[in-house]
Amino acid sequence: MLGQFASAVLYIACALATPVIWDGRAPLNLTDTDLDSSTGPFLTVVKGSEPASHYSQLLGDTIAPTALWGDIAEQAISVSIDNSSVFIPGGGGPQNGFRRTDIIAAVNGQHDVLITQMETGTTVFHFSVKQDASRPLNYSHEYQIVFIEPNDGSHIFELQLGSPFTNPTGSLPVPNAHSFKVLDHALNVLFSTPFTADVWHNFAVEVDWNARTLAVFYSQDAATLQPVTATVQNPTAASGAAGQGDFHFTVLKLPIVNPADSPANQNDVVHFGIQEGTTEALLYSGMFVESAAAGISTGSSTAQ
Ligand SMILES: *[C@@H]1O[C@H](CO)[C@@H](O)[C@H](O)[C@H]1NC(C)=O
Ligand SMILES: *[C@@H]1O[C@H](CO)[C@@H](O)[C@H](O)[C@H]1NC(C)=O
Ligand SMILES: *[C@@H]1O[C@H](CO)[C@@H](O)[C@H](O)[C@H]1NC(C)=O
Repeated sequence: MLGQFASAVLYIACALATPVIWDGRAPLNLTDTDLDSSTGPFLTVVKGSEPASHYSQLLGDTIAPTALWGDIAEQAISVSIDNSSVFIPGGGGPQNGFRRTDIIAAVNGQHDVLITQMETGTTVFHFSVKQDASRPLNYSHEYQIVFIEPNDGSHIFELQLGSPFTNPTGSLPVPNAHSFKVLDHALNVLFSTPFTADVWHNFAVEVDWNARTLAVFYSQDAATLQPVTATVQNPTAASGAAGQGDFHFTVLKLPIVNPADSPANQNDVVHFGIQEGTTEALLYSGMFVESAAAGISTGSSTAQ
């Protein structure tokens, strides 16, 4: 299954210098205090009322990051939500339907210039995800966990977990709720794999911003990334600036329909619905964006 797409892809088999555009593999000197001020590679403003370091912690040597980039000194980061995780956007009311903590790719708080650098030509978005055994998700809910979000709120691609929100609510959790789903802009599932415990799940999504295509790569722990889709069209994504947006890795939990809400409000997942207020978390490492000009870094010492 994994081998069938191999011929379409240029692999980097040795330590070539593929241009890294943004490196979110948290350096060992990055601290929780840096998270509070968005110093370093992470913009941390999309969260609830507490400081960023209430929701996210740099894990030092307590939990090893993915072994995929073994020669890179990095530390994993936890991203959690609790009942205080209601984001109030500038110029909008509180997002009471969601519980969310988003980490956004940036350079010392600057993200607009980075977006234009990351989202031109053909670029590859790398990220690794692991369960937090002590703070599990609730798979009856939908979680949007990694995505690029242009201003229209759509997602160029998305990594999703859980049971997709439906109105009316169906039987929960859905059968594949515990699987990752990589979605295209039109929400077609390109790739799905179980979110098993105790291993790092490594993903890379190659985006051709001109041809508007996606290609997905996946592996676990130190195993090198393998193509798991062909290069597929992503035609509903806007081209040019309208299709560019922030690169998020998050815990964004959607609600369940509240039967007590009005019919219109039952579809307003941003502002209405049922949340239990539980504390839940995911672990992230191995985040970076590279140009695909020299191919795709597939791991085990292949990325600079
Ligand atoms: C961490 O160390 C690097 C290299 O010395 C330095 O460039 C960077 O500014 C430091 N980062 C923080 C958050 O202190
Ligand atoms: C998970 O979510 C469902 C649906 O809202 C809810 O019935 C259930 O109590 C939740 N479980 C926990 C442990 O919060
Ligand atoms: C969660 O917060 C909301 C207000 O944002 C409140 O109405 C609700 O009672 C809280 N739930 C828990 C379990 O604390």
